[in-house]
Amino acid sequence: MSGRNQTVTERQGTAAERLFPRAAATIEFVAALGRGIGRLFRTAYLFRVELLLTGAGVWVWLKLWHWLGSPLLAAKILGSILAALLVLRLVYAAVGKAAPTIGKRAGRLAGNPIGRALLRIAAAHALLVGLRTVLRRHRAGRVLLWAAGMRARARVVRQMRDGLTGVRFENNAGKLPRIRKVRTTPVGERMTLVCKPGQSAELLDTRAEELRAAAKSRDVRIVRDPNRSDLVTVDVVRRDPLAATSAIRWDGLGHDALSMWDPVHIGMDENGDPVRLSMAERQIFLAGEPGSGKSSGEQVITCHAAKSPDAELLFIDPNRVQFAPWADRATAYAYADPDDALEVLNMVRAEGDRRLALLEKLPGVQRKLTREIAEGEGIPLWVLFIDELAYHTSVIGTTNGPFAKAARDIVSRFRAAGIIPVFATQRPTSDVVPTSLRDLFSMRTAYRTTTLASSDVILGEGWARQGYSATDIDLANRGVSWLLAEGALPRRVKWAWIDDETISDLSMTTVRFKPRRDPVPTPATDDTEQEG
Ligand SMILES: Nc1ncnc2c1ncn2[C@@H]1O[C@H](COP(=O)(O)OP(=O)(O)OP(=O)(O)O)[C@@H](O)[C@H]1O
Ligand SMILES: [Mg+2]
Repeated sequence: MSGRNQTVTERQGTAAERLFPRAAATIEFVAALGRGIGRLFRTAYLFRVELLLTGAGVWVWLKLWHWLGSPLLAAKILGSILAALLVLRLVYAAVGKAAPTIGKRAGRLAGNPIGRALLRIAAAHALLVGLRTVLRRHRAGRVLLWAAGMRARARVVRQMRDGLTGVRFENNAGKLPRIRKVRTTPVGERMTLVCKPGQSAELLDTRAEELRAAAKSRDVRIVRDPNRSDLVTVDVVRRDPLAATSAIRWDGLGHDALSMWDPVHIGMDENGDPVRLSMAERQIFLAGEPGSGKSSGEQVITCHAAKSPDAELLFIDPNRVQFAPWADRATAYAYADPDDALEVLNMVRAEGDRRLALLEKLPGVQRKLTREIAEGEGIPLWVLFIDELAYHTSVIGTTNGPFAKAARDIVSRFRAAGIIPVFATQRPTSDVVPTSLRDLFSMRTAYRTTTLASSDVILGEGWARQGYSATDIDLANRGVSWLLAEGALPRRVKWAWIDDETISDLSMTTVRFKPRRDPVPTPATDDTEQEG
């Protein structure tokens, strides 16, 4: 009490306050009033959707009362309508989730009235999902979706504020990060936060678990803006749009001929957009647990290369079965035999050296094989597939052996020479795949893994902690992976699926595009044990 009195007596005011006490008091009063009104508006804005809905509800009730002449009857009718809407919404949500299963059993369900009703709701759900995908492609559609997502955005702002207050994220001045922007995304909501002095993306990252629970979401992904460290993107992940997708059709099937210099259609991302990867001058590394979809992913790239008259295929396939249809079609093919495999690699190195020498001899400064030079000189892109890389670098070879060294040499030196390495393995740890080789890949894709550490080994240190973890990929949803290629953030992708008949068909029908070279001789029998 005495302290307070002291403060009061100590406060003398500024010179202006002493000279014009009435004016100063008026200014102070207006400022306090302004602050109060501002606070009221900010709070009302947070609850704007609820306030709007309440207003609309009262308006409808008053109208009903006016028509019916009884306030109680009006309230009963309004209540019944709201309850019916709620029940419909719950049924819709439940049936929408089960839409793919319902689709499969449609025949049996159509036989009874409840089944038919369920089918109609499932069809409406599918239609809405499709409509949303179409709307997202157009500006006017995005405005509509923005308006539709108001409630979700208001909810996530509240949840995030509660979460941040709950973990005492205020800085010394008692301020929370400012929420600058919120938008709805196909997976949930994305917000941009502006950190106040004393806060950082890294600090926020340590509270990711609590924020995830506060948002009642599957996950939150926290990433710092690369250009402004006080800006933080928080992705609140509520659903997995790829979970219910069936097999993705490969675009290339509709084309007679493709070019390896053009981007390869590899699948679909979470927004429902096609994912295309430029492969020229790049390398891709695919990794994940057994059966996660690596070889099927390689097949997509293989089929694109096979349909491209400007590309040639080379395979090292210890499993033997994966790329068998291409054996007669490829420029070089080796099974599990280490000498054969090394021979393929040496063939690639010799060709790479020949191309680099040729580039050197061309007039002017030619730093790399371009599409024009390739067409002018008749040089095809060589796509080198190694399935189950670890077989040659750890099972029958070593991480320091000739195979590993040759593979590393190819990845590091021949990017400019039109050699495209596509390597896949189950466990990319340093004891099975040399780190010096793995780190050279410009594109990496992590299929399902069992541990966060394995996911980080593939994508790079720290991604799993930020919410980009291959452990989240559903075991049943094969062919889904985190792809780190273009852009700063990994993208969740479902790879296209090409069935065996199409592959076998393409392996025969695309032969006419290019003459076959002498393949590397492979012994007729090979009893080396193989890794599964
Ligand atoms: N994109 C996809 N769409 C649908 N199903 C897929 C997809 N990719 C893979 N699958 C399913 O998963 C199975 C296993 O895939 P795949 O053989 O490519 O796995 P893998 O990762 O190469 O396994 P391994 O490490 O044992 O070689 C396929 O037979 C197929 O049924
Ligand atoms: Mg495989």
